[in-house]
Amino acid sequence: MRKPIIAGNWKMNMNPTQTTEFVNAIKANLPKFDQTESVIGAPAVDLPALLEAAKGTDLKVAAENCYFEDAGAFTGETSPKTLNEMGVDYVIIGHSERRDYFHETDEDINKKAHAIFKNNMTPIFCCGESLETREAGKAEEWVSNQVTEGLKGLSADQVSSMVIAYEPIWAIGTGKTASADQAQEICAVVRQTVAKLYDQTVADKVRIQYGGSVKPANVKEIMGKEDIDGGLVGGASMEPASFLDLVHFND
Ligand code: PGA
Repeated sequence: MRKPIIAGNWKMNMNPTQTTEFVNAIKANLPKFDQTESVIGAPAVDLPALLEAAKGTDLKVAAENCYFEDAGAFTGETSPKTLNEMGVDYVIIGHSERRDYFHETDEDINKKAHAIFKNNMTPIFCCGESLETREAGKAEEWVSNQVTEGLKGLSADQVSSMVIAYEPIWAIGTGKTASADQAQEICAVVRQTVAKLYDQTVADKVRIQYGGSVKPANVKEIMGKEDIDGGLVGGASMEPASFLDLVHFND
């Protein structure tokens, strides 16, 4: 049985004061961590405030990115070693905004996955096709290839414990959610790809999220799909009441 994981991805939208206020508004009403995992992914500058406010609660903390080296002359980058020392649980990698605007390659993202595991955190690895790729009938092949490249060299145990987020680029921040069936279709492809690369046991363990205009109104239907174990949520994760509705999708 895979534990549901709902993760907010705030992107570059909150400051430390807002972060503290947000966590104080939700912390008493989160589901128990052993039933549903609630995660907030916040900008690096907000992580100290987020970690402090989340202490002793059922909320887990994600960074939105990191570099693949622990230390060195990499001006402006964030060290995965430091993130771990701070108490961060997850790191989101390979988001389409990072791939598109900051030119991250499959190889960079794969190196980040290795660095995150080396530093005892868990990657939330994003993949997903553009509208053009979907319309060309190549979504399955595209996503399967991203997963194959992104997971290179990871052990079966590592992949079993990680999270893969399928986020069709055309559904992110557009209000256009993939239908629950469309989301399920590609999430199944992700799981089959993991089964091919590793084995069925690993594929049965890896948790797969859908992301792209997930909101309280559609979360239940999406979460009801066989291969969907969670959501990665931007817009609808930034209001406390909406976040609580998402993590309580099952109530
Ligand atoms: P959205 O963003 O929920 O605002 O579509 C999702 C994401 O980018 O992770």
